[in-house]
This record gives sequence, C-alpha cells and structure tokens, in this order.
Amino acid sequence: MYKNLFSPMRIGNCEIPNRLVVTAMVTNYCTEDGFVTDRFIKYHEEKAKGGWGLIITEDYAVNEMAKGYSHIPGLYKDEQIEGSKKLTDAIHKYESKIFCQIYHPGRQSNQFVNGGKQPVAPSAIPCPWLKEIPRELTVEEILQIVEDFGDCALRAKKSGFDGVEVHLAHGYLLAEFMSPHTNKRVDEYGGCFSNRLRIVKEVYENVRSKVGDDFPIICRFSSRDGFMGGRTLMDSIELAQYLEALGFQALDISQGMYGDYNNLDNDTLRHGFTVLDADEIKQVVNIPVMPTNRITTAGLAEALISGGKADLIGMGRTSLADPHFPNKVKKGKLSSVRHCINCNLGCFGGILGPRGHVTCLVNPSVGREYELDFSKSNDPKKVFIAGGGPGGLQAAVTAAQKGHHVTVFEKKSQLGGQLLSAAYPPTKGEVAQFTAWLIQEVKNLNIALRLNTILTKELVDSEKPDVVIVATGGSPIIPPIKGITKPHVVLAEDVLLGKVSTGNKVVVCGGGEVGIETAAFEATKENGSVTVIEMMDHTHKNLRLNQLLDMYGVTVNINTKLSEIADSHVIVEQGPFKRVIEADTVILAFGYKPLNILADELKDTCQDVRVIAGANKTGNALDATIEGLDVAMSL
Ligand SMILES: Cc1cc2nc3c(=O)[nH]c(=O)nc-3n(C[C@H](O)[C@H](O)[C@H](O)COP(=O)(O)O)c2cc1C
Repeated sequence: MYKNLFSPMRIGNCEIPNRLVVTAMVTNYCTEDGFVTDRFIKYHEEKAKGGWGLIITEDYAVNEMAKGYSHIPGLYKDEQIEGSKKLTDAIHKYESKIFCQIYHPGRQSNQFVNGGKQPVAPSAIPCPWLKEIPRELTVEEILQIVEDFGDCALRAKKSGFDGVEVHLAHGYLLAEFMSPHTNKRVDEYGGCFSNRLRIVKEVYENVRSKVGDDFPIICRFSSRDGFMGGRTLMDSIELAQYLEALGFQALDISQGMYGDYNNLDNDTLRHGFTVLDADEIKQVVNIPVMPTNRITTAGLAEALISGGKADLIGMGRTSLADPHFPNKVKKGKLSSVRHCINCNLGCFGGILGPRGHVTCLVNPSVGREYELDFSKSNDPKKVFIAGGGPGGLQAAVTAAQKGHHVTVFEKKSQLGGQLLSAAYPPTKGEVAQFTAWLIQEVKNLNIALRLNTILTKELVDSEKPDVVIVATGGSPIIPPIKGITKPHVVLAEDVLLGKVSTGNKVVVCGGGEVGIETAAFEATKENGSVTVIEMMDHTHKNLRLNQLLDMYGVTVNINTKLSEIADSHVIVEQGPFKRVIEADTVILAFGYKPLNILADELKDTCQDVRVIAGANKTGNALDATIEGLDVAMSL
C-alpha cells in the first residue's frame, strides 16, 4: 500500500532508504557546553531502530555563542567530534541516514543560554518572544560566522554524518538576514534580494569548499515568515530557485518565525499546513522537496509522494509520539501507531517550560531510552490499579509490558477518565486517538478489567495484590457559595460529555484550561451568550485557547469573584463593586482536588500503595502519563 513511501531516494551521493524523515527538534538532552550525551544518542537510535529513512538532528551550534537553548549540541571545537561520531555510529548500525542541522540563533537567543552575551542579529530589532535587543553584527563578525558554519560542517563530516542541513528557517540568524522584516541594513548584507542573501551564499560556498563535492548539503527555510512585511510564499518561489542554483541539494520547507503564532496559530492546527506551499516551490526546482508540519498519517504521506507533491516527508512530533512509526506502517500495523495529538505539552512545552527538555504525553518514554528497561521482570507482581484515566492506563500498559499481572478497576462504565471529556472542546478531537490507543493496548496486553467497580479496602484485603496503584485522579472543586446546589449549576465535564443540557445564557466559573475550553465548546453551539468569570487577573495563558474565545465572541471577566448564584443570574464582585450577570446555566470549572480515598483507607495497613498523578497532586495529562510510566517501572 505504501510503496512510494518505502522507495529509496538520493540526495547527492547519499541513498536514503525511504521517504520518511525525522525533522530537526531541540531536545535539550546534551551538556551545557555542547557535548553529546548517551541520552541524546539512545533517543536518536530508537528512531533508527524504528525505520526512519533519514534523521535530521536538532540544531547544532556553529560557535560557542550560537545557542538558543541551554543544552543543545555543538560542533564548534574538535573535542566535540568524538561524541557525535558515537551518535552516527549508533545510527549506522541500522539502515537510516543522519544529517546534522547547523545553525546560529541570531536574535532568537538570550543571555541565559549563550554565555551572558547579548544576542546578535543583522539589525537591532528584538525577537517578540525573547525581547532582548540584539547587537547589530559588524561585517567582520559576519565573515567569522560564515567561517564558523564551514568549520562546523567539516566537523560534522568528520563525525560521520551523511550530510548537513543549513538552518535558514524559523527566524534564526540566516533567516533574519533573508527577511526585510528583520534586516534593515544598508550595507552589502541588506537591502535588495541578493544583498540579503549574501550571507547564505557565503555560508554555502564556505561549507562546500570545506566538505568537498561528495557531501550532501541541504537547507531548511520557511515558506513564509508569517508577519506582514516579511517574506511571502512568492518570495520563497524566487528564493527556492536561488538556493538550488547555489548548489543546495534538497529543500526542507517549514513555516514561520518566533512570534508569528499570533498570525499562524489557527493555521497550525491544520494537517499538512505547509504542504501546499511546498508544492508551489516544487514546481520551480529540480531538487528534492520535503514539506513538514502536521503530516501525521501514512496515508497522507503516501498520497503526497505518489501525487508528485513531495519527494520526502518531514515528521517531527510524530517521531516523538511513535519512534517506530515507519516500521509499523511498513508491516501494515497501522492501528498500533501511537499518534501525536498536537497537544504540545511535552515537546514545545518541555523545552520552553520548567522540565527543560523534550518529553511526550502519548510517549512518556521518549528521551529516556537510555535508562528504561522494558525487559520482563524477574519478580512479576500482582498489581491492582484504581482508576482508568491516563495515569492508571499508562501504568497498566507499562506494568503489563514488564510482565506483571495487572487488573484495572474503573468506577465508571468506560476507561479514559478525564481524557474522555478532554477530546470534546473545539480543536481537541485528536485526544480521542490516544485514549482509544490506550484502551486498545489494555486489550492487546490482556490486562484484566473491572469496570463499574470501585477498588475498596475490602477488595484489597480479600484479593491480596502485591501492589496497589491509586490513580483515581481528582474530584471537581465545588466551593461553598450560596446557590451552588441549584439545578442549573452543572460541572464542566458533564457539559462536555453531553450529560446535561445548557441554556442560552451561560456563565462559566473559572478561566483555567477546562473553563476556557468549555466556554469555547458552549460558544460553538451558537445558542446565545457565554461569559467566563475568573478571580485572578488572567485566564489560562494558552494563546490558542484565548484565540478560540475571541473567535467565538466569549466575554471574559477577570478579577471577578463569584459571590452568589440566583435562579436567573449570578452576582459577582469586581473589586469593591457588585454586579449581576444573567445566567440560565452556571458551569463550574474551578479545577480539581486530589481524590485518594483508597490511599487513606490503606494507610495503616502494610499494603504497598503508590499514589500517582491527579490522586496525589493536581496536574495535567502529561504529568499523569509520566507518573504512570515511572510507577510501573519502579515495581
Ligand atoms: C520540541 C521541538 C523542537 C524543535 N526544534 C527544531 C530545530 O532545532 N530545528 C528546526 O528546524 N525545527 C525545529 N522544530 C520544528 C520541527 O522540526 C517541525 O518542523 C515541527 O515540529 C512541525 O512538524 P510536525 O508537525 O511533524 O511536528 C522543533 C519542533 C519541536 C516540537
């Protein structure tokens, strides 16, 4: 069925065994001084094992200051070659090829990650996200950076990489030079097209002169900047021919730059949202073209290749969600693929948030290949799990894989816990794919299931498991507010799951993730007015969620406290003032508190009890699957 996808392709002298390519992704798994770690190697090796045709590494720094994240690799000194050689050796044990992405972040960096130095850029315009005003590069410095790219590429060749990808995308240094939005120079590196492209030409020529003719050099660029006044698709059509003429041997087409998501975010939900741009670009060049961005199924990938719209298919987050995607597809095991649900909690959220490195909600093993041992336990245990939500199910699946005898107790008639309602708000439908995948794994692994059953102390006493895992999640917080027990006061989860109907004047209490998503869900019914009230001075900061509210015309009142619920309205406090908001339905979304009755009941026994996820501490589904994996591994 996927014969095009699994046909080989050449880039220069490098034969790539199939068309599935892992695109570059910062993981932050290396050392702070740019050395490769065992963790980094094993993470990539898992993908080679999984059958990807080509793996493109995350962006390697071309010099010591060229860092946009704290723990990225570098090839700016010879001592760094040895580690990367170990990486390429590990990949070459399989059929996969590996290219090294080389970059300089330009203004998309900050003093905390690049050795206390002010970021540099073509012009002194700050990145809208990172906000530090960069220093304008002198011509002398530009020439040094050009040399750095060449030296870095040569070290990549010495490290055994099969090629390099020069990073011209996403608003990093070379992209900054290319765009009139970020390059305001009036010397030979700014102004007209060929001046703005001068540094790219010099980088290409420098790299080529150092690596020789027999080493593939490809590049990645954004088909559009995503800012008014930035580069457009039409500019990229001209650019593509220019890059081909320079000598680049394949074009990896991405989109956007930092800060553009204000304009692009709605778009980024669409599957294959850069495919049509790449197709336009493909019309004007004769070298391989690779689209990326939310190409998540083998069917779409095959259709793009067979229909002549792409030569290679770039998949980033799909390779995190399931490093074995290619082999599963090749064997026809499509239903066993664990799909990326575009939640961005573990990947982008991982490198930008407190965890500091990449992980994945649907695949919490990612980045932990070096330490996790999935071989069968020598001491299989009888494991009872209370709660069939994401934490409980992940624990069940992992424990069963390790050979333990697992029974899941779920008080409701269906598995999934809060993942079930999480799929209902607009844009969240793909969450159901993961829930369905977990349920399927429970069946495949013959995990015993007791639905409609609460695991009690009596059951534990009589059936004597070795371990009890309490994964009962949280229960909704219901504050003691006058009128809160009235019949038109309902829970967000019940609204989402269609258990209760709502009226034309809806007030949602709580502007966290669940509150906002429920408000957006209500607004899609186009029945009447939806108002969110939130006590704090902001709602959940997720841009996508807030865009939904704008899009659907939801009224948001921050600094607003619910003080009473009456039959046809709510009374709220805004500072010293009281106000009435009409409401025929009041939806409670005040958050959750841990629900761990069973743990309390078992606390004075000698039973081995582990309390995880929402039953222990309020968190999200990413926390739950990570804790589920960890607890099962610790058995
Ligand atoms: C955590 C993370 C880090 C990324 N780092 C890079 C990078 O170093 N270089 C790059 O060109 N793109 C980077 N990207 C973009 C991806 O390569 C890819 O283009 C993007 O995720 C869209 O493709 P997908 O929908 O298949 O994930 C990163 C993406 C993620 C999720």
